[in-house]
Amino acid sequence: MKNRRTVLVTGGCGFIGANFIHLLRNKYPDWRVINLDKLTYAGNLKNLQSISEDENYSFIRGDICDAATVNRIFSAEKIDTVIHFAAESHVDRSITGPADFVQTNIVGTFTLLEAARKFWIEGNSQVKEPCFLHVSTDEVYGSLGETGYFTETTPFDPRSPYSASKASSDHLVNAYFHTYGLPVRITNCSNNYGPYQFPEKLIPLVFNNSMKGKSLPVYGDGKNVRDWLYVKDHCQAIVEVVNKGRSGHCYNIGGNNEKQNIEVVNLICDTLDRKLGLPESGEPRRSQITFVKDRLGHDRRYAIDAAKIKEHLGWEPQVSFEQGIEKTVDWYLANQKWVAEIVDGSYEQYYEEMYSK
Ligand code: NAD
Ligand code: DAU
Repeated sequence: MKNRRTVLVTGGCGFIGANFIHLLRNKYPDWRVINLDKLTYAGNLKNLQSISEDENYSFIRGDICDAATVNRIFSAEKIDTVIHFAAESHVDRSITGPADFVQTNIVGTFTLLEAARKFWIEGNSQVKEPCFLHVSTDEVYGSLGETGYFTETTPFDPRSPYSASKASSDHLVNAYFHTYGLPVRITNCSNNYGPYQFPEKLIPLVFNNSMKGKSLPVYGDGKNVRDWLYVKDHCQAIVEVVNKGRSGHCYNIGGNNEKQNIEVVNLICDTLDRKLGLPESGEPRRSQITFVKDRLGHDRRYAIDAAKIKEHLGWEPQVSFEQGIEKTVDWYLANQKWVAEIVDGSYEQYYEEMYSK
């Protein structure tokens, strides 16, 4: 049995998946990484352009719901580790169009579980301990009041089509452990931020709109609370769960960084004012904030108790929220072309051209 892993990363062209693949390339350059991504609106090949020629990295454009493709990858590549990021991830989109969430998040996860079950249970894994790590969210636990934290034993209470689809997939993953003995692990993480985040999510949206002098939409009263985690801390936690986690266990991952949305938006505005000076209007960027109609069923507060992963695996976040925002704003300032290409849709054309060759 070998130690070198052959890892199927699903959704590696998205925000967290791309950060994770970069981390893996640096930490374990001899591990083979196969990135399976459908390249939906949220997937961007440019996120991985710098490693596209790496001999231990390969990209396959495909859908996790397509059993034939997924089975073929398991057999051809002899997959022993799955890190499953691929999902429809945006809550607002799940409210206006839930069907894709049910398909990708539930049927897609089921398809991957079936492929792993068939392949590993037939004894085809090349490592002693194969691992199916399902990347999930704290939103499965529902919404908190003013106090309290989500632990790994908090009952599921999802409120949006997105969180309901993720909760469903978590249940399926657990069922495959109890029924078939599939070596699964689940991580439930809080809100991530950092490089490569698609500019529909709060932090990059506020950055992009404020650079363009547009209004900064804050839902409701702006007092909903999220527990923010710098994406590279999340990726490091996933590495710890692969290396040291236990099958059948789930691990909560959080930043211990509870902030009201309005505090987050104010901090981004102030950081940009400090770095770039005031905009042409002469008004601080906070003046662009506009309170808008609330999200339907908007969860009030999320907060993670991450004691288990700290005690069992020795992981804790390394980047404070203030440091993380500084790094994130610097990244977006240095990569404005990346944002502009997404916002004007030219990256979609890039795929069409690339795949029509
Ligand atoms: P993202 O939307 O940025 O990326 C999703 C990726 O999955 C894209 O590259 C997309 O092309 C791909 N994809 C979508 N449908 C697919 C399909 N049917 N087949 C193959 N590929 C497909 O998402 P993200 O923010 O990077 O989130 C990654 C995972 O982490 C998700 O499972 C999400 O639920 C979970 N998560 C996200 C956060 C967060 O704050 N962003 C927090 C906790 C958990
Ligand atoms: O908690 C983990 C989840 O975090 C992940 O599972 C999801 O995939 C990820 O998208 C994220 O969900 P949120 O809904 O919390 O993220 P979003 O960036 O969309 O919104 C963060 C908060 O900001 C939320 O309370 C809604 C609010 N918001 C969002 C947008 C886009 C605004 O006030 N204005 C906005 O324009």
